[in-house]
Amino acid sequence: MSKEAYGLAAEAAGALKVLTGVDSFDVALVMGSGWVPAADAIGTTISEHPVTDLPGFSAPAVAGHSGRIRVVETGAGKKALILLGRTHLYEGKGVEPVVHGVRTAVAAGVGTVILTNAAGGLRPETQGVGEPVLISDHINMTGANPITGATFIDLTEVYSKRLRALAREVDPSLAEGVYVAFRGPTYETPAEIRMLRTLGGDLIGMSTVLEAIAAREAGADVLGISLVTNPGAGLVGEPLNHEEVLEVGRATASRMGVLLGKVVDKL
Ligand code: 6GU
Repeated sequence: MSKEAYGLAAEAAGALKVLTGVDSFDVALVMGSGWVPAADAIGTTISEHPVTDLPGFSAPAVAGHSGRIRVVETGAGKKALILLGRTHLYEGKGVEPVVHGVRTAVAAGVGTVILTNAAGGLRPETQGVGEPVLISDHINMTGANPITGATFIDLTEVYSKRLRALAREVDPSLAEGVYVAFRGPTYETPAEIRMLRTLGGDLIGMSTVLEAIAAREAGADVLGISLVTNPGAGLVGEPLNHEEVLEVGRATASRMGVLLGKVVDKL
C-alpha cells in the first residue's frame, strides 16, 4: 500500500474511533446493494454516520448504495463495523476509494473482514435466485489491482478456509463458488458469460475482489458471501435489470443478516 493510502486509512481509523466512540471492533462487514435490512438483522445499532464524515470517503453514486457507516452490537456482544454501501471501480474514481473502507477498518484494528455482494449466478442448474454462496476463490478480471509496485502478495487463500467452515457450522447448506469480477457497469454479454463458465467461474459481479486483495495485503482474514440475485445474461433468456437485482437483495436481505449475525457471534 502506498504511503499516502496508508496515511489516509490511518487518519480515517482515528476519526472513526472519535466519531463512533468505539475503540475496537471485532469484525468489519462490507454490505452490497440495498443490504440495509441485512445490516438491521445483524444486531443493535450503537451509532450510524454518513461515510462522508470520515476522511477519504466519497458519497456513493448508485441508488441502493446508502454510503453509511454503522456500529452494531450482536446478541453475543460482538462489535461489528458495517460499511453500508461501497465505492465501485465503475464509478471511475480509481482503485483507492474502492478499498479505502477495508483499509480503514484494518487500520482501526479489525482482523476479520466479511465482504458481501449481489452477484449473477453462472450455474443456474444448481443455484437458486436468493441463495447465499460462500466465495471460495476469485478471478479478478477488473484489470485493476489495489497494490502498486513490486509487492508480491500470496493469494493462495484469499477467502479463509477457517471462516468458510465457521459459516457452514451456522448453515451447513451453504454452497461455495468462484467469484469473477468484471469492472462493469455494463452486465456481461451472453458470450462473456459462456466464457466465464468455461473458465471455472460460478458467480459474477462488479465488486469484492479488490477489497479482498487489500484486506489480505493489510493482514486481515476474509470471508466472502455472494447473494445470487439473477442468472448471468443469456442463461435463462431474460434481460437483466438493476431494479430486479436490488429487489431480490431486499427480499432476502434479512435472512442474510441473520446468517451474518450468527457468523459474527462465532468469531
Ligand atoms: Cl449478471 N453481472 C455482474 N457483473 N454483476 C451482477 C450481475 C451480473 N448480477 C448481479 N450483479
